[in-house]
Amino acid sequence: MIEPATADALDEVLAIEQACFSAPWTRKMLAAELSGNPFANFLIARCPDPLSGALAVVGYFCFWVVFEELRLMNLAVSGPFRRQGVATRLVCEALRTGVERGATRAMLEVRVSNHEAQTLYHRLGFRQTATRKGYYVNPVEDAVLMEMTPLKVSDVCRQPGASSPGAK
Ligand SMILES: CC(C)(COP(=O)(O)OP(=O)(O)OC[C@H]1O[C@@H](n2cnc3c(N)ncnc32)[C@H](O)[C@@H]1OP(=O)(O)O)[C@@H](O)C(=O)NCCC(=O)NCCS
Repeated sequence: MIEPATADALDEVLAIEQACFSAPWTRKMLAAELSGNPFANFLIARCPDPLSGALAVVGYFCFWVVFEELRLMNLAVSGPFRRQGVATRLVCEALRTGVERGATRAMLEVRVSNHEAQTLYHRLGFRQTATRKGYYVNPVEDAVLMEMTPLKVSDVCRQPGASSPGAK
């Protein structure tokens, strides 16, 4: 189930953020995206916990719609829930939102070593357009800039399982 995040999800999002990144966003940075940034959209993916059945946050995605541009800011899926299409669903939801709001291009940066994420974005229609030297810290690393122009909802998003009826 994909839905807009609220402040209630902050603890779970922070735990995934800290587990996934060597230079994680802080609680304050995440909270600012959740409530203080008028351009920001924050989605979470929830799945039932196998033991309790309670819905747990398993992934999240922060993206900005800034006038004509959709900017992919922060995406992560908890280790045990990867390779099940969670990130694909989250990004597809962002592409739909961007198109609905009139954005005409999408862009993101990703570490050069992060081949998993690059494959995911490539599959959704993004193409490498440039590199940014020393863009990341801890460790210092170049960024690959990926873009999609014109912005469109990828055919991948129309495949069974890639749509998210729970999304608002
Ligand atoms: C990158 C990440 C978000 C992918 O999440 P996910 O839910 O596993 O992704 P999906 O299941 O939607 O994968 C979609 C496609 O991406 C590619 N992909 C994803 N993970 C991959 C991996 N480990 N190896 C190779 N390809 C991979 C595959 O093409 C996959 O399709 P397939 O499973 O049918 O082969 C997740 O691995 C993650 O959170 N990584 C750490 C944080 C991160 O790197 N975030 C992105 C920063 S830009």
